[in-house]
Amino acid sequence: MLEVLNHPLITHKLTQMRRKETGTKDFREYLDEIAELMAYEVCRDLPTRPVEVVTPIGPCTGYELSKEVVIIPILRAGIGLLDGIRRLVPTAKVGFIGLFRDEETLQPQEYFAKFPSGLDESVCMVVDPMLATGGSAVAAIDMIKQRGAKNIKLVCLVGVPEGVRAVQKAHPDVDIYLAAMDDHLNEVGYIVPGLGDAGDRIFGTK
Ligand code: PRP
Ligand code: URA
Repeated sequence: MLEVLNHPLITHKLTQMRRKETGTKDFREYLDEIAELMAYEVCRDLPTRPVEVVTPIGPCTGYELSKEVVIIPILRAGIGLLDGIRRLVPTAKVGFIGLFRDEETLQPQEYFAKFPSGLDESVCMVVDPMLATGGSAVAAIDMIKQRGAKNIKLVCLVGVPEGVRAVQKAHPDVDIYLAAMDDHLNEVGYIVPGLGDAGDRIFGTK
């Protein structure tokens, strides 16, 4: 399943992020706000179970979340989506995957992994602003599947058809959510028009 969340508020904020003159502070704030808006849609099908509660007026059958949610940002840039999603799911646990793309080969290189227990019973959200070749997302999903994860959602800001196809081929069971589907990758693996290097723009490293 691929869902592109064409919501006017998301599109407006993403457009501000795309502007090359947008600085680190505003870029981070827009990303944080988009993450929260995306989380509302991504969580639409979270499983619930009935629970009996008593209101000040009387008994009532309510529904509460029946599975743990684990948010897994791909370092570094995925960190930019974490707080916005956590505001909507404050009980979520957090795992981390450290990957960077080799600039020559574009292959993901792993440098860190830390997960909470119970991935096999949880809804796992792998989050990263950019889905370019898809190599990083495929590697991250491989890593959590090796640790038992079964119910996986991939949440990215900007993707391209190449990246979506790569994830769908390697992991057809994973639901993919994007804020925008861009046109293509350039010769050095950057999304066109995209928003540049997300990690550098979030952390001010260039
Ligand atoms: C960026 C981005 C993704 C990856 C996408 O990270 O945040 O993780 O590239 O590219 P792919 O789909 O071709 O794998 P980068 O490797 O630049 O690391 P950073 O987040 O530390 O800047
Ligand atoms: N990583 C980024 O940060 N931006 C791109 O356009 C592609 C990969």
